[in-house]
Amino acid sequence: MSTVITVKDLCKTYVVNKKQNNVLKNVNFSIDEGEMVAVMGPSGSGKSTLLYTVSGMDRMTAGEVTFNGRALSKLSDDEMSEIRLNEMGFIFQQMYMMKNLSILDNIILPAVKSKKNDLSRGEIVEKGRSLMKRLGIEETADNDINEVSGGQLQRACICRSMINNPKMIFADEPTGALNRTSSDEVMTELVKLNRDGTTMLLVTHDVKVAAKCTRVLYIVDGNIRGEKKTGAYEKESELRDRERDLSSWLMEMGW
Ligand SMILES: Nc1ncnc2c1ncn2[C@@H]1O[C@H](COP(=O)(O)OP(=O)(O)O)[C@@H](O)[C@H]1O
Ligand SMILES: [Mg+2]
Repeated sequence: MSTVITVKDLCKTYVVNKKQNNVLKNVNFSIDEGEMVAVMGPSGSGKSTLLYTVSGMDRMTAGEVTFNGRALSKLSDDEMSEIRLNEMGFIFQQMYMMKNLSILDNIILPAVKSKKNDLSRGEIVEKGRSLMKRLGIEETADNDINEVSGGQLQRACICRSMINNPKMIFADEPTGALNRTSSDEVMTELVKLNRDGTTMLLVTHDVKVAAKCTRVLYIVDGNIRGEKKTGAYEKESELRDRERDLSSWLMEMGW
């Protein structure tokens, strides 16, 4: 199994009003191809900062992140943008979509912007539509972003994150703004994409979401306090036991 991302002694310090805030303190971990890793931990512990720093959305203060063989700290902003566009996918709790574009046009935007594919506009549209079909939202293609439900919009965000066939998806509380049913649907799709080979790192505070992942990292005050390897589940019927195990582990961690 090859390693997709390696994080070594990662530190991130924010300076606000001349005051230093050491948010990440020597974080170390790596993720193999095909893993689906959840990051949990108290509010303010640095989960979002970790996600943004390891995905190059934000610069690290010290340490190194190696993604797909390249050291991120050595890359220029342009090189970093290119990697984010072509090799990474992003899903957020707040669903950022362009208001003046239809759902389909939002989904295909990263492919239109990418110089790495040699697809025609028609082929890109075809690809967008087939992803929408796979996520069960093909009928919303021409809708405005305010003409779909929260669950549909989040599934559209997943389509957009997948349009350039990323090696890895980074998701910050992807189900945080959804009700239980929509959250379950979105997770079902993320698990499918993961089983099809997309490596994932996702932040969540939901035990049900984390129970579907293959490993959980628990972060407290900018450090990884513990990790639990759970592996892939085979049947839905295993989930309840996995949730129970995870909950008791989280209690031990001080959740
Ligand atoms: N852009 C920023 N500028 C300054 N401080 C920030 C910034 N982003 C996060 N922080 C600080 O970093 C700490 C961790 O935040 P965050 O990573 O969002 O935590 P979590 O996602 O676990 O709730 C908080 O103290 C927060 O105020
Ligand atoms: Mg956060």
